[in-house]
Order: sequence, then C-alpha cells, then structure tokens
Amino acid sequence: MLERIGISLERSLLEQFDELIERKGYVNRSEAVRDLIRDQLVQRQWSESERGEQVAVVAIVYDHESSSLAQKLTHIQHENHQAVVSALHVHMDAHNCLEVLVLRGRAGEILQMADSLVATRGVKYGKVLPATTGEALR
Ligand code: NI
Repeated sequence: MLERIGISLERSLLEQFDELIERKGYVNRSEAVRDLIRDQLVQRQWSESERGEQVAVVAIVYDHESSSLAQKLTHIQHENHQAVVSALHVHMDAHNCLEVLVLRGRAGEILQMADSLVATRGVKYGKVLPATTGEALR
C-alpha cells in the first residue's frame, strides 16, 4: 500500500534535485526519493548484518608509477585472498589504473579490507559499494 508524504525543503535544493533526477531519467520525484531511501536502508542493513556472507564491490584509482603503492595494494589483496572473488584491472591512461574488486565475506571483515585499500596513501579515488539482493526490503 502506498502512503503519501509531504516534504519541505529549500527551493534551490529542490531545483537542483529536479535537474539531477531529470538527467538520470526518473519519470517523477517519488521514484527518485524511493531509490534514495532504499539505498540508505540497504547500506544500513548490509553493515549491521551479523549473519552470513555479504558481497561488496570496491573500486580504486591509483597511479601505477608508484611501485610501492601498487605493491601495497596487491599485498592487501593477497593477505585477504579468500575474500577476493574477482579482480578487474583497467589501464585507464598512461599513468592511472582502475581496479575493481568483488569481495565476499563477513560484512565487518570485507569492509575493513575495502577501507584499508581505499585509505592507502596515493589512492586517488576509492569507493565501496555494498551489494545486496535487497531481500529484506519490502
Ligand atoms: Ni594498470
């Protein structure tokens, strides 16, 4: 059953939001707000889940010319080799590498590994994406 809610927010914020969701191809605000809410709920459920295995995707961008950095990143992966389901390496340009890892394990453990990869000095960009089937979301 659908419930209707009203939201108050600044006009400029709403204008930016409308611009954003139009660019993303949403047909209306409701669908966009639903997705934002689901995204938050999935993230919370994921990180609070104590039971079973979880899956996450980690993306990092770094300069491969720093050989000690590349070694460090590989070292972290080998230390946690059982959690690394798959690794994809893309040579983005003459200097930068993109690495995308799929991790599987207990939420706390794979988050710790993902955080240490992203936080490694020299990593220019890093993002952790909890993956879920969204089963618990109605
Ligand atoms: Ni590369």
